[in-house]
Amino acid sequence: MNLITWIEQRTGIVSQITDFLTEDVPGGASYWYVFGSATLFAMVLQIVTGIFLTFYYAPSSATAYESTKYIYQHVPFGSFVISLHFWGSTAMIALLFMHMLQVLIWGSYKAPREIMWVVGVLLLVITLVLGLTGYLLPWDMNAYFASQVAINIASSVPIVGRATQEFLSGGPAMGTLTINRFFGLHVWLMPALLVMLVAGHLVIFRHNGSAGPPVDTDLKKLPQGRFWPNQMFMDALASFLVFGVMVALAIFSPVPLDDKADPTQKFIAYPAWYFLALYGLLRIAGNLPEGVVPIANLLATVVIPGGLVTLLILLPWLDRNPSRQLSRRPWILGITTLSIIIAVGLSLYSQMAIQKEQLDSKGTPTVASPAPATGGVAAPAAAGQNGAPVYATNCASCHGASGAGTPNAIPPFAGNPDMNGDATGIIHTVLYGRSDALKIGATTYNGMMPPWKGQLSNADVAAVVTYIRSSWGNKGSAVTAAQVAKVTK
Ligand code: HEC
Repeated sequence: MNLITWIEQRTGIVSQITDFLTEDVPGGASYWYVFGSATLFAMVLQIVTGIFLTFYYAPSSATAYESTKYIYQHVPFGSFVISLHFWGSTAMIALLFMHMLQVLIWGSYKAPREIMWVVGVLLLVITLVLGLTGYLLPWDMNAYFASQVAINIASSVPIVGRATQEFLSGGPAMGTLTINRFFGLHVWLMPALLVMLVAGHLVIFRHNGSAGPPVDTDLKKLPQGRFWPNQMFMDALASFLVFGVMVALAIFSPVPLDDKADPTQKFIAYPAWYFLALYGLLRIAGNLPEGVVPIANLLATVVIPGGLVTLLILLPWLDRNPSRQLSRRPWILGITTLSIIIAVGLSLYSQMAIQKEQLDSKGTPTVASPAPATGGVAAPAAAGQNGAPVYATNCASCHGASGAGTPNAIPPFAGNPDMNGDATGIIHTVLYGRSDALKIGATTYNGMMPPWKGQLSNADVAAVVTYIRSSWGNKGSAVTAAQVAKVTK
């Protein structure tokens, strides 16, 4: 008895592999079928490069950036592997989109493949969460500010928003706990779910077999191709191509590491491309007339994205049309095309808006402006003037150079009635930060205001509070360092 027979008798694995390889492919092998296996390949590559990165990466606010930089500068092929992991995530999500699109167009989600489709939609969601959580880990400027926007969006979801925000950030400000939460999700929970669901997806695929081309004839009547070697060859070739493109990108377009995350700096973050559409939606919502902003925000953060995922999950039951032929499914194909056009349009829109913002922000001074020409010792009365550079350096990154805030995430100072009232609360917020719900007009903010005690002197706090209370039409009284000192006690 040879070894193979021995193993086969104890596991049945040999006959399973033979069954799998000799499986029929209705209508013959096709390059249309390679997206699923190419996505799987990209996933394996992500796991391999990801494991390599965890050998060096140290998740804490004191080490995340430093260890990433170490990988770049001192680990052999470190910068290459990081770039490969970055481009791999882009490839995985792009291939996943194409795989889904092909299944959508060909109607392969129809009975008996409903559950396989639902598992696929869940895989899409998990992959997006992986992209989102991975974005923070390098802890550079872009990572920090993009993730802050994401956490603020999560916090604005009704009912569960606060809890989600607290879970994700782990405290009143983003720091080590935030990195640890994102790391745990990115390296343990999401990959575990991903691998389990992929296994399920494949088992169901083995059960149902290939869906074949989008025709209504009996699949058995079509000419049959063979999985091995025909389809296998095409799958391998596609994966090999993907690998080649990713290696080329990692070599010729390595991913840069920004400066270390610094919440006190001005920075306009750039989200990952697959979130641009959602980001565009949010921008549009934030730019609507004051009264409708809360509703529009709710639509943009919860109703539309959540509704889309729900629609996708329910698709096999919503689309009762039994035909798979393209010409008999104008509705589904029309809606799919329209959705793609809208998503691309929204992405382009936010791409342009972000670029414009980045250009604009280069025009405004971020460092302290030269001392006033009047000279002399700064009298308390001049405090409001000194506040402008303190504001530009420390606060404008979030609250905006003109005090406009960020729709739904960071409160404005312009037109904010809190600025005109008693100063004590405002001073307290600046000294100690705050993260509980803050209601201004009809909008509730749930973001995280960092604490400044220890970073700014009492005089600076007095100056900047005076500045925000007296700029942009605000009429609040001036604040002195002595008032600030009282609040610190
Ligand atoms: C990292 C982003 C960020 C930076 C930098 C920042 N803030 Fe804030 N700030 C916020 C957020 C978010 C809130 C809302 C907090 C909440 O929802 O409880 C806030 C709230 C406030 C409030 C309360 C407004 C009100 O209506 O009560 C004041 C005052 C304030 N910030 C002043 C400042 C000053 C002054 C600076 C610079 C020294 C500054 N902030 C820097 C994010 C920031």
